[in-house]
Amino acid sequence: MPTKIEKDDVTGQETTGHEWDGIKELNNPLPKWWLYILWATIIWSIGYYFWSSPIPGVEGFQEPARERLEQTMAAARAEQAVFLEKIAASQLEEIRDDPELLNFAMAGGGSSFADNCAPCHGQGGAGAPGFPTLADDAWIWGGTLDAIHETILHGVRNDDIQSRYSEMMAFGDGILDGAQIADVADYVLSLSGQSVDREAAARGEVLFEENCVACHAEGGVGDVTQGAPALNDQVWLYGGTKAEIEAQIAQPQHGVMPGWLERLDPETVKMLTVYVHTLGGGQ
Ligand code: HEC
Ligand code: HEC
Repeated sequence: MPTKIEKDDVTGQETTGHEWDGIKELNNPLPKWWLYILWATIIWSIGYYFWSSPIPGVEGFQEPARERLEQTMAAARAEQAVFLEKIAASQLEEIRDDPELLNFAMAGGGSSFADNCAPCHGQGGAGAPGFPTLADDAWIWGGTLDAIHETILHGVRNDDIQSRYSEMMAFGDGILDGAQIADVADYVLSLSGQSVDREAAARGEVLFEENCVACHAEGGVGDVTQGAPALNDQVWLYGGTKAEIEAQIAQPQHGVMPGWLERLDPETVKMLTVYVHTLGGGQ
């Protein structure tokens, strides 16, 4: 390829001397200001590299970001460890009564609750049909710190042999007929002061005495030792319409909750217990 630098007639610009099939390349230099910026950024990048990157072996000069993160985390863990040790060594009542420990337990319990419990029990224990509200003072299995601790550890109606267990029978399977189920449902509604057919409720009361007080107790006040909910409080796990109550009597649902003994460490279960107890009406 011939390289002959010459002046271009049209532009008056010098060529580079490259020529392909009669087409010549003009030597148009980059604008100076552009070049200065380019050089400036190159110089700046060299300086920035040393400013921002760690220099291996140079003590104290920009430790790698990961190392700094690990140090921060370690400090946080050490701080937490102090509290976790106290939680481990304290009774539930002691945690509840010590403002500092309670604060820590509420934060730890709250975040574990959001991860593990809220999918069933709702945000802040607001509850959902079939999943009891934990932010109230109606307790199926008991609302003392110990009762809540036990429920969380072993759960309800699961494979754990220590799981809480009880089962309402299906009264629709030949124990009561449809009319009797309707009567006893009227009685159940009357317990929470709702207006019902008085005669039907009176007939239902007799049936309730015979079939239901063994678990739900006299007057339907409930029995935490059997997980039989109170029926006189307008708090319903499976709904409070007459149809829903009849359905529960005929073919009861049996709520299942997993136990957390194997899944969560003992400190977390304690923090959850205090958290749940504090949410609503802990007893
Ligand atoms: C898979 C759904 C599910 C998850 C997850 C779950 N629960 Fe439950 N929980 C239930 C059901 C269902 C019941 C009611 C069981 C029954 O019918 O007696 C229950 C009952 C309870 C009770 C007893 C309420 C009472 O009135 O006595 C407590 C306390 C409780 N759960 C706490 C928790 C905590 C804390 C967690 C998270 C570590 C959790 N639950 C996770 C389903 C769940
Ligand atoms: C063997 C004990 C037992 C007997 C007997 C029993 N129940 Fe129940 N009942 C329970 C349990 C336990 C639950 C809660 C089920 C659950 O948590 O999943 C329940 C739940 C209910 C509910 C739902 C409460 C709610 O909050 O939604 C109603 C209504 C009810 N029972 C009515 C009756 C009536 C009426 C009778 C008698 C005809 C009766 N039960 C007999 C144990 C019993």
